[in-house]
Amino acid sequence: MRRPVIAGNWKMNPPTLDEAISLARAVAAVSAPLDGIDVVVCPPAVWLTAVAGELAGSGVAVGAQTMHHEERGAFTGETSPLMLAGLASYVILGHSERRQYDGETDEGVARKVASAVAHGLRPIAAVGERLDERRSGATEAVIDRQLRAAVSGLDTIAGSGLVIAYEPVWAIGTGEAAEPSDAQSVARQIRGILHERFGDDAGDVPIQYGGSVTADNAAAFLALPDVDGALVGGASLKPEQFAAILAAAAG
Ligand code: 13P
Repeated sequence: MRRPVIAGNWKMNPPTLDEAISLARAVAAVSAPLDGIDVVVCPPAVWLTAVAGELAGSGVAVGAQTMHHEERGAFTGETSPLMLAGLASYVILGHSERRQYDGETDEGVARKVASAVAHGLRPIAAVGERLDERRSGATEAVIDRQLRAAVSGLDTIAGSGLVIAYEPVWAIGTGEAAEPSDAQSVARQIRGILHERFGDDAGDVPIQYGGSVTADNAAAFLALPDVDGALVGGASLKPEQFAAILAAAAG
C-alpha cells in the first residue's frame, strides 16, 4: 500500500539559517500529531545539515532539491549522493526549474534517478509539460518521454522508494493549479507507463501533484485515485498553509 508523500520544496528560500531552522521547527510541530503520511522538507543544500539536525527524531524527512549522479570529482558547485547519505532520505530530480535554467536533460535525470536509488535515496522524479506543449496537445507525449527516460536506468522499482511528481510547468508559482480531472488523467497515464515497465510494483509508487497547491485546493488533488501526495512550493514556506495541506493528506 502506498502512503501519501507531502513534500515541501523550499527552492532558493529562506535566505538565512535562522529562518530555515524556525521553518523546520514549525513543520515538525504541525506534523507531530498526524498519522499515515510521509512529510518531507527540501531545503537548499547549504541548510541541509542544520535542518536535518533540527528534524532528527521528529518524523519529518529531509530531501535535497537536486544532486549530481557521480559520487565525487571535478564537478564545481555540485552535491554528490555520498554527501547526502545520512542527511537526506529523498532527492527531487528533474524539477522543471532545473530543466529550464540549468540545462537538465532527460538523459541526465535518468542517470540521477539510478544513482539516487543505488545510494538509498528516494528519488522524487518530476515530470510536466510547458504551456506551449499543453496548447499544442503534446502533454501526453511529453509525460511519456520524460517518465520513460527518468526510469530508464532502473531494472526494478521494488524497494526503490520511487516517487513521481507531476508538475505542469504552467501551474508552478502562477496561482493557476491544474484541474483535478487533468491531474488525475496524467497521474493515471504515469501509473500505466510504470505498470507496463515494472508490473504490479507500479501500484506502490506515490504520484504527487505539484503546481500552485494551497490549503484550499489540496484536498481536491489528494482525493484523486491516482494522486498520492503533493509537491508544494510557495505554500511550504508558510507553516499554517503547509499545516492545512498536511492535515488534508492525513484525512
Ligand atoms: P508552487 O507550489 O509554488 O507552485 O511550486 C510548485 C513546485 O514547483 C514544487 O516543486
